[in-house]
Amino acid sequence: MSEKRERYLVTSALPYANGPLHVGQIVGAYLPADVFVRYLRARGEDVVYVCGTDEHGVPITLTAEREGKDPQEVVDYWWTHMEKTFERFCISFDNFSRTSTPLHAKNTQLFYRKLKEGGYISEAESKQMYSPTEGRFLPDRYVEGTCPVCGYKEARGDQCDNCGSWYEAYELIEPHSKITGGPAEVRETMHLYLDLPKFSDRLKEYVGGQEHWRGQVKNFILGIIENGLEKRPITRDIKWGVPIPEPGFEDKRFYVWFDACIGYVSSTMEWAENVGEPDRWREYWQEPGTRLIHFIGKDNTVFHALVWPALLMGAGEDGEEPYELPYDVPANEFMNLEVVVDGERRAMQMSTSRNLAVWLHEALDRFPADPLRFYLASNLPETGDVVFSWREFQSRVNSDLIGNLGNYINRTLSFAEKYFGGELPRPGELPEDAREVFEDFKALEARFDSKMLAPRPREALGELLAMGRRANQFFDAAAPWKSRKDDPERARATLYVCSVLLGSIAYHAAPYVPEAVERLREFFDGPIGRVSDVELPESYRVSGSKPLFQRIEDDEIGAAEKQLSDALKGDAS
Ligand code: 2FM
Ligand code: ZN
Repeated sequence: MSEKRERYLVTSALPYANGPLHVGQIVGAYLPADVFVRYLRARGEDVVYVCGTDEHGVPITLTAEREGKDPQEVVDYWWTHMEKTFERFCISFDNFSRTSTPLHAKNTQLFYRKLKEGGYISEAESKQMYSPTEGRFLPDRYVEGTCPVCGYKEARGDQCDNCGSWYEAYELIEPHSKITGGPAEVRETMHLYLDLPKFSDRLKEYVGGQEHWRGQVKNFILGIIENGLEKRPITRDIKWGVPIPEPGFEDKRFYVWFDACIGYVSSTMEWAENVGEPDRWREYWQEPGTRLIHFIGKDNTVFHALVWPALLMGAGEDGEEPYELPYDVPANEFMNLEVVVDGERRAMQMSTSRNLAVWLHEALDRFPADPLRFYLASNLPETGDVVFSWREFQSRVNSDLIGNLGNYINRTLSFAEKYFGGELPRPGELPEDAREVFEDFKALEARFDSKMLAPRPREALGELLAMGRRANQFFDAAAPWKSRKDDPERARATLYVCSVLLGSIAYHAAPYVPEAVERLREFFDGPIGRVSDVELPESYRVSGSKPLFQRIEDDEIGAAEKQLSDALKGDAS
């Protein structure tokens, strides 16, 4: 247990409400955050976990145009779909909001006004891509061309997927409309700008001082600041988005990346209203000491670790409503996909447009949440890109989740039931081998804590597996199946010790496989907690225990793999 309750506000990137979620998104921003939050709650920390859909921006209008629908219809559909999918996957948001709410529009406009009062907004003619054939300005995402930095041919209008550079669409080489393929030209239009250079020194000091940030995040941002910041436009010539409270801007809207992160604040406000304490959002955003942690995929790093802190600095400057700055921005790398092509296994980039992806709702139609969470958590891209492989899913689940953890839990519970009627009273004296295994567990628990708090839930999972191995080894060495014959009380004492270890394993496993640990509580009556904290109970009781996990069979994997190979073939034909 931590001595002092820390206050945390944890967020997962707001997904665009324009399509289903795939596992690459899940390992970037959702699963690691959820595991982390579940762990914090179990420790008794004060934590609020918010998210919601990102409902503005060109990805949404592109989908709406393609489907001949109103953007609102598109986001309504996907909000519901996502909320349900997150629930099936046991993501435990305290609030799942959306950015098309009136509250969010008001909040975004308030941020804007405060930035303007602080002198951080200016108005200027800007260059914007225009399609003469379509007779309209083209949002960045409607424009494609060659990356001015790395020469990648299919670079997007605002960002290069190949090298991660962030630029203006008119800097692209040979720009053209993504819709018609026709040429795009530059025209002048009036826009509002955020004066990022004014934040340069403060940002440098702030980011430079974050000793606990991931090296790749910190260095990436410091490099950008070092290269010199520029004013950035925060408005667009579009119809879908938050209205701009300025005369002359009626036909324009805020750029999606201006309002997106503000969505975290709006979602917290909504949460506070829902719990009946409308002002409580301020505790998390405005009282010093909050650990504000944004889990994101690496493609969102600039917006969260540079632009967003600048917005918070600028909007919080009036002295009335200072904002806390992010305590950490754990950005995760990418996940590729293993596909079987003509009997050969190849790692490929996921492609949502080619349907070459593992969609979370479909994966959940095949398998329960727990094994999927377990495998994905063991394969989080915390330090580098990773590959999703159905075969690897099968082997991790069967050998680590079931063969190690499940096996330990199972053998302890069934032994206790079979030979001791499920009654394990505290022995007068603990067997001498107990002290050693408890010490080992305390060390493993401390390592688990420091990795989880880093936050590196994948590495923490490695410590959990080490606990499982150590506990199995204890069981094997104590050999209760032998001692129960000539010294049954000793065997019973061994099983009591095993239950203490089981309580610790369940405690540390719960953030990863929450449903299994819920089920465990139905037949295991005893504390689920750390060896380091637990007060040894009068007794443990077990009744009606069942295995917590089901093996993953070859034919299930074959079917899942075939779906991907078929998607690839369908694409080729
Ligand atoms: O990349 C994305 O999917 C964005 N919708 C993430 C936004 S995160 C935050 F700003 F809301
Ligand atoms: Zn590039």
